[in-house]
Amino acid sequence: MGSEMCIRDRNKVARLALQKHSEEFNRKEFRLRTLFDKNSNRFSEYSLSHEGLLLDYSKNFLTPETIALLLDFAEQSQLPAAIAAMFGGEEINTTEERAALHVALRTPAAETNTPEVIETLDKIEKLVAQIHNGTWTGYSGKAITDIVNLGIGGSDLGPAMVCDALSTFSNTKLSVHFVSNLDPSHLQNTLKDMQAETTLFVVASKSFATLETLKNAEAARDWLLRKTDATATAKHFIAMTTNLRAATEFGIEEQNLFPLWDWVGGRFSLWSAIGLPIALAVGMDKFRQLLAGANSMDKHFREAPLQENMPVILALLSFWYREYFNAHSSAVLPYSQRLNLLPSYLQQLCMESLGKSADKQGTPIEHNTGDVIWGTAGTNGQHSYFQLLHQGTEFIPVDFIAAANSDVRGNAEAHQHLLANCFSQSLALMEGKLDADSIHKVVAGNKPSNTLLLEELNPYNLGMLIALYEHKVYALSVLWNINAFDQWGVELGKKLSTKVYAAMSTEADQDNLDESTQGLIEKIKYWKK
Ligand code: F6P
Repeated sequence: MGSEMCIRDRNKVARLALQKHSEEFNRKEFRLRTLFDKNSNRFSEYSLSHEGLLLDYSKNFLTPETIALLLDFAEQSQLPAAIAAMFGGEEINTTEERAALHVALRTPAAETNTPEVIETLDKIEKLVAQIHNGTWTGYSGKAITDIVNLGIGGSDLGPAMVCDALSTFSNTKLSVHFVSNLDPSHLQNTLKDMQAETTLFVVASKSFATLETLKNAEAARDWLLRKTDATATAKHFIAMTTNLRAATEFGIEEQNLFPLWDWVGGRFSLWSAIGLPIALAVGMDKFRQLLAGANSMDKHFREAPLQENMPVILALLSFWYREYFNAHSSAVLPYSQRLNLLPSYLQQLCMESLGKSADKQGTPIEHNTGDVIWGTAGTNGQHSYFQLLHQGTEFIPVDFIAAANSDVRGNAEAHQHLLANCFSQSLALMEGKLDADSIHKVVAGNKPSNTLLLEELNPYNLGMLIALYEHKVYALSVLWNINAFDQWGVELGKKLSTKVYAAMSTEADQDNLDESTQGLIEKIKYWKK
């Protein structure tokens, strides 16, 4: 307790110093551009490289003093010990009393302490081979042509994003589809042109208790059984879950179950059996390259000094803007159509992890925590919301992401334009245009951004990129002294939906609902055909 007080006091002092320092940048006359005028080495001093990944963070409100103060804050927050605790498998998910050991999922076999991970990867590899070589057949003896992943949240967003990002690496004719929404039209649209005899359903649910996934799995099973009998379930359903019993009760055969463990958080699970659709889509070797890339970023996060540590620098920048520049949101803008789903994936990763109001000791928090994350692939956004980034009243830091090499051969010119647009947007955000003939044409500039440049978008580099954001999120949670690995707020809506469902289905139970909800239910009952 004594030492905790001491940490809090030191933390307060470090925060006060940051607050005072930030006033220098928040002055109207301060120009971000002048930081470059004063230092011709700014790019090399404010960029980091790790293998095929470069982080340019020079277009930020940072001076050597800022870095020193932020690093001091990170030390006061015990960030190095927290990083060691995560890799050491300590119970850092305090409210659920478990470790958050997703890094173990990508530790190479020769270094692992978790043989169950290696066994599961081997089991996945066998399944992938059987499906790819056509020895896994459906009820009529035909090879599988379509995989349908039934899952939501972490059991959907990560695998869907990676499959889309790596679609050019696929060397199979297999089509992989993702169904997440409880809205029956999602499953119905997906199954529209599919044949039951060649479709394999993959039920992805850590808990095997998520309403959306269970309802979609039941509907998929009904669709299958309309064409054949119950024995076909064994050939057309597999599951990835910690809840092996519930999956067996659903009718999935024991040999078709792929385990994961409570120390794998849902939004950190694409590296586990939840990533099986990725392995099916791009092949096991590419899936292993994805894991290897993530492992390389793990080593960097674990070993690099704080000032050279990419996830730590990204976390400190987000902390800096959220706390001292009143940034309510930040944008992630991949200049890569293949990374179009990355912002949606990051929304869950960041907002489910960092949307907290109590600290790890259970005290209400007096400072800001997670901001709103949003974005889509560039250049589309330039013709939509970029106007607000340039001339709106919100302060929105941006992460630009681009790949130096295109995976499309034969249109180098278009790719060159894509990169030029990416770089010119970060330049325009920083410099603005002050010498205009009308106030309406003045662009204030002074908007900070990072640029993450990949040598190319391949499985290894994508693994590094995703792990970079995972570790950034953890580092931020340490700076804010919150638990990044629970999501109790989500539970309330789930419980209430059971109550509201009961009220909609019967006359009973309505009285204890508020008038608005009752009114809506009444209208539904009136309108329902
Ligand atoms: O949205 C809440 C949540 O619990 C996420 O954290 C999780 O990724 C998702 O639901 C799906 O959970 P499950 O994999 O258990 O079906």
